[in-house]
Amino acid sequence: MNKLIKEAIKARKNSYSPYSKFAVGAAVLLKDGKVVHGTNVENVSYGLTNCAERSALFSAYSQGYKKDDIIAIAIVADTKDVVSPCGACRQVMIELINEDVPIYLGNTKEKVKEVKINDLLPCSFKEVEL
Ligand code: THU
Repeated sequence: MNKLIKEAIKARKNSYSPYSKFAVGAAVLLKDGKVVHGTNVENVSYGLTNCAERSALFSAYSQGYKKDDIIAIAIVADTKDVVSPCGACRQVMIELINEDVPIYLGNTKEKVKEVKINDLLPCSFKEVEL
């Protein structure tokens, strides 16, 4: 767990966040042992910003990995308490990771809290059968 938080801290160094100055890092641990990094990439048109955890998940999927390949995710920012993912990232995570995947929320002082996606987004909108 700590190792993945350290990877997220490394990923944070690549943050492109000239507007918020809030650097976030994420790391996705895969079944084959590979770790995929992601960071927040901002835009002058603020709404086009991509968060760190979404960048990491999109990168893993872009490399051909699927939901069942993901065994953990860590997200880190330089906050007093652990970082808390935004609503958009919660919605993306509910679709791209399994419900039992540990999500390690951390800060740069290595404070860590483990949650699951259903803790972050209860009663979520998912693929529905019609
Ligand atoms: N941000 C993330 O990358 N992940 C989070 O969990 C929270 C917010 C980014 C988006 C934006 O670049 C900056 O943090 C400030 O909101």
